[in-house]
Amino acid sequence: MTASGTGPAHLEVRELVVSFGGVRAVDGVSLELSPGEVLALVGANGSGKTTLLDAISGLVTPAAGHVVLDGENVDDLLPEERAAVGLVRSFQDARLFPELTVEDTLLLSEDGRNPSDVVSITFRLPWARRSERAKRADIDDVIGSFRLGAFRHRRIGQLSTGTRRVVDLASIALARPRLLLLDEPTAGIAQREAEAFVPLLRRLQQMTGCTVLLVEHDVPLAFELCDRAVVMATGAVVSVGPPDVVRHDPRALEAYLGASEEVLRASGPLAPAQPAGGLAGP
Ligand SMILES: Nc1ncnc2c1ncn2[C@@H]1O[C@H](COP(=O)(O)OP(=O)(O)OP(=O)(O)O)[C@@H](O)[C@H]1O
Ligand SMILES: [Mg+2]
Repeated sequence: MTASGTGPAHLEVRELVVSFGGVRAVDGVSLELSPGEVLALVGANGSGKTTLLDAISGLVTPAAGHVVLDGENVDDLLPEERAAVGLVRSFQDARLFPELTVEDTLLLSEDGRNPSDVVSITFRLPWARRSERAKRADIDDVIGSFRLGAFRHRRIGQLSTGTRRVVDLASIALARPRLLLLDEPTAGIAQREAEAFVPLLRRLQQMTGCTVLLVEHDVPLAFELCDRAVVMATGAVVSVGPPDVVRHDPRALEAYLGASEEVLRASGPLAPAQPAGGLAGP
């Protein structure tokens, strides 16, 4: 199928419905992401954001609708088959093994993408040695890019939540996604640390060049990173467009952005509570 191609993926979600008993967690959502686009998805707790990502990655089966990757319907593909064509999914609670070191975690991610067979490694065939060297070089590269040098030999369980999340992003970079679904990469970390994620997420997108669907509670962060934003409420899309349009859309304000003065104020181009950044440009 063409979805196994290279480069950023094109994603289309058509009239997707996911029901849990009587609850329509996703209620007829249609979305389209162009190759390389960053789309931010925001909305209140329980509005269906994670369920939408689950349906796109194949973890839940929709009651209706379609997921189309590079023009091919992937409704019948298992999550691992979708992963094999470049769909990478991160979770709200960064699922990493606490006993592994940062380096081993990254090696595992690299192996998942590009497994060397056991026979070649055991007999130290030249190409296998070369590919081991290439893997090490890739890992050195992401450790440098994500500033993880000091943590290389530390166990995941010893790291702060923020650093664990950076390791998660570094693993994602090694997985070479074509379509990346990020579920609240800054969940559970302090505001100051969250701000440091803007350049990291940018670097991740630049390194992989992939298409990104970013679910994020931190509206200013999401709006700063995205090309377009989507607001969901009770399973449905209520507003979609460039962040500057969505932030003034009465439907978005009513559904979510206006719910809190804080969210509304902070989602502006320059939050007045943070004057240290100086004057914003035009
Ligand atoms: N496995 C499940 N079984 C039953 N109901 C579920 C299940 N998963 C989600 N729901 C319900 O579906 C709705 C959407 O939940 P979902 O987790 O997708 O929201 P969300 O927007 O990701 O919320 P949050 O911002 O809190 O992460 C909620 O009403 C939730 O209770
Ligand atoms: Mg969620």
